[in-house]
Amino acid sequence: MQKKILIVYATRTGSTQEVAEAVAATLRESGLEVDIQPIRNVRTLKRYGAIVLGAPLYMFHWHKDALSFLSRYKEVLTGGLPVAIFAGGPFAKGDEKEWQEVRKQLDQELAKFTWLRPIAIEIVGGKFDPAKLSFPLNLLPALKQMPASDLRDWTAIRAWASNLATKLQTTLS
Ligand SMILES: Cc1cc2nc3c(=O)[nH]c(=O)nc-3n(C[C@H](O)[C@H](O)[C@H](O)COP(=O)(O)O)c2cc1C
Repeated sequence: MQKKILIVYATRTGSTQEVAEAVAATLRESGLEVDIQPIRNVRTLKRYGAIVLGAPLYMFHWHKDALSFLSRYKEVLTGGLPVAIFAGGPFAKGDEKEWQEVRKQLDQELAKFTWLRPIAIEIVGGKFDPAKLSFPLNLLPALKQMPASDLRDWTAIRAWASNLATKLQTTLS
């Protein structure tokens, strides 16, 4: 029997969880069995055939739960368990160059894990809702006054997940 895929995610305001759920749905449509969990709930990676790790970028850094997940599971992830990665951000309309900058932010974070060899990496865009800012960010007038926005491109996200499914089918068979 083909092993299950585990999707793990971190989020502050929910948008990365929604992306993780969309990726899960696409992988399932492709016939893969998928579990999905917040990183904090993960107790073991045993029984899984591959991991998808998703988390947002904040202030040029990847969510700390994603970084500690990689440290904690280094041994199993270097021992042949494939990992695919996606990151939330940016949320403000910009040009292609801005997306390249965001990819650089993620690459810098991933470079801390010299052993890491992801089978896929994607920047999925972010969502901003000033009503969801928590302390101390909700005290910053410049942020509070920014308009809500959502740069997540669901067509691109599903296309990425669909390509990933093809890769995983080959890896797991
Ligand atoms: C205060 C703040 C700082 C952010 N910093 C970055 C950043 O450095 N790079 C980036 O690409 N996105 C950045 N973002 C965008 C977030 O990654 C985006 O809003 C994401 O969708 C949040 O994910 P979450 O809802 O799962 O917490 C920032 C957002 C906020 C509110």
